[in-house]
Amino acid sequence: MKPKVYITRRLNGRLVKKIEEICDVKMWEEEDVEVPRDILMKEVQEVDGLLCMLTEKIDEELLSGARNLKVVSNMAVGYNNIDITAAKNRGVTVTNTPGVLTETTADLTFTLLMATARRIVESSDYLREGKWETWSPMQLTGQDVHRATLGIIGMGRIGEAVIKRAKGFDMNILYHNRNRKHGIEEELGVVYAGLEELLRDSDFVCVLTPYTSETHHLISEREFSLMKETAVLINTARGGIVDEEALYHALKHRKIWAAGLDVFEQEPVPVDHPLLALPNVVTLPHIGSASIQTRLKMADLAAENLLRALTKQTPKHVVV
Ligand code: DGY
Repeated sequence: MKPKVYITRRLNGRLVKKIEEICDVKMWEEEDVEVPRDILMKEVQEVDGLLCMLTEKIDEELLSGARNLKVVSNMAVGYNNIDITAAKNRGVTVTNTPGVLTETTADLTFTLLMATARRIVESSDYLREGKWETWSPMQLTGQDVHRATLGIIGMGRIGEAVIKRAKGFDMNILYHNRNRKHGIEEELGVVYAGLEELLRDSDFVCVLTPYTSETHHLISEREFSLMKETAVLINTARGGIVDEEALYHALKHRKIWAAGLDVFEQEPVPVDHPLLALPNVVTLPHIGSASIQTRLKMADLAAENLLRALTKQTPKHVVV
């Protein structure tokens, strides 16, 4: 009998087709609408494999109703949507898609940093709204990126890829990580700093750490009070790492200069969220890995991980 698989979003990709050859597949056919929780709970009851997005909460309640489930393949590198302990206790393999999205996410991180520093969105709106009446000396002036100090919190693959881009702008680079990485210090000429030191000394603070119970609200009121008044915060990791209420106050009262956010505590962020009303915030709808090439690679890797787990081979990227 073919293994049963449920895919939580309409997906394309070479290996997704392969799942359809080998498995008995059901797919949520919508691309821009999440599968409702009650439907997902029902669909997982009989399946051997689940290919899901970061939008699905894979928790104890869901796992306990999925008696045949052997693998959850997440089409994302981050897996904070999955209760890893519950999966482990139930012997369910969890896989993710690191590597293939590194460069694309680093491109977006640097794009957001540049756009926030140089007020690109605000300037474009200024022109379109007919406010541009003359050239004037301090009009829409931003912060220099070149030769500024970049502080990276969380030094993994994406952090290293961001450093390579920052090097082209002659930036000085500090990093903070759970484990010090002597290799990249030598290879890329970056300097390790404690979190406080990094926050005090950086012109740009870039959040790239995974979201866990330890990193929840890692950047909050106290952290903003340590930062420069000219500092720019960039978050392309997960919204919950930054305390949004504290960020709002820091931006509103100019304790820091600006923020560029690709991720939010609640996604989609409500359109009436106070942060969206501030001129010194650049906001994006979680598009870090959103290039056509990379999203297809992520779909294929998620499909391959799933297929391997269902055919008794070791998946390429196992979380547990
Ligand atoms: C991830 O993979 O975790 C990103 O947030 C989406 O690509």
